[in-house]
Amino acid sequence: MEDNKPMTEHKPAASEVSSEGSDVSAVGLDVGTSRIVVAGGPNGHKAQTQLNAFVAVPYSKMTEAILQQNKMVFHRNGKDLYVFGNDSERFASFFSAVPRRPMQHGVMNPQEPMGQQIIQAIIESVVPRGRKNELLCFSVPGKGEGADTNLVYHEAVIKNFMQSLGYEAKAINEGLAVVFAELQNENFTGIGISCGGGMCNVCVAFLSVPMLTFSLPIAGDYIDSSVSAVVDEPVTRVRLIKEESLDLSRQPKDKVTSALHIYYEEVINSLVGKLRDEFENSRSLPKLERPMPIVVSGGTAKPRGFLQKFESAIKSNGFPVQISDVRLAGDPLTATARGCYIAAMSEIR
Ligand SMILES: Nc1ncnc2c1ncn2[C@@H]1O[C@H](COP(=O)(O)OP(=O)(O)O)[C@@H](O)[C@H]1O
Ligand SMILES: [Mg+2]
Repeated sequence: MEDNKPMTEHKPAASEVSSEGSDVSAVGLDVGTSRIVVAGGPNGHKAQTQLNAFVAVPYSKMTEAILQQNKMVFHRNGKDLYVFGNDSERFASFFSAVPRRPMQHGVMNPQEPMGQQIIQAIIESVVPRGRKNELLCFSVPGKGEGADTNLVYHEAVIKNFMQSLGYEAKAINEGLAVVFAELQNENFTGIGISCGGGMCNVCVAFLSVPMLTFSLPIAGDYIDSSVSAVVDEPVTRVRLIKEESLDLSRQPKDKVTSALHIYYEEVINSLVGKLRDEFENSRSLPKLERPMPIVVSGGTAKPRGFLQKFESAIKSNGFPVQISDVRLAGDPLTATARGCYIAAMSEIR
């Protein structure tokens, strides 16, 4: 289960406070298919997260009162009430409903008419209004199957919205954000990967410059729906089993777990296969003097044994560049937001 609590907390470093004593603030925003995460900003420098999902129910005074009593975040639009963010999960389970999602495969979901309004409401619930010229960096996916010309639209919609909240807004590739969050000691040289709900994002960076970026349209959601279809279990149940108990380092003991292993392997092999192809086809990569690290983040990288499976996929069949090590991000669920925050801070210094 995802929780509502702020995930990490840190005191602002001295360098984040200007000589006038007022905070020099910047904001990092991870606009993910499954979750919206914000890091930094003037409100205590802690990462906060909301599920990027909602449930619609017909409006009645009674329902509205119950939502208020239960302190659920909601939005009214004509004859419907929309419960969104972390509360959507609890609310959906009351009705055995599957929450609706504003985004799909890393971008605005064209099949969801309420998508833009809801995503704005979710963002507003975690991002305060920007102060004059305050910089906000938000994550966007790299190009890939399913994310191509629609990326321009997605980026513009989010950017406009952040500007209307008072920020100077700048998009940053999600994989690069992972590099910023996790590869400081390596001079921002290495491979940053985020395995989320809607997609996997990859960035190969040299000295903080993105040299190669791409996305893959399969990740956690694909695993859930594929397993659900082959074992004939509701998608929500499959997801809960996956999040609460999957251990990829142990032999599966039942049908659901075996299917989870199978689709996890497919995602990992496709990801590593695509990375190998991209390296082999790329002419513009500088020659490296030393092996580089891979850092993996995102909710889909969380199960035990994920990293070992990923490493063995890299090792089997050889790999076109030398890899020093494969590691998991410090906090896989907030790496993208933290990296966006670092990107924003580095621009205002
Ligand atoms: N502990 C866990 N084990 C396995 N999968 C998880 C776990 N926690 C979250 N997930 C999965 O991670 C995905 C969401 O990851 P996240 O990085 O938040 O995605 P996004 O970038 O799409 O917002 C979902 O598919 C969710 O089911
Ligand atoms: Mg993400």
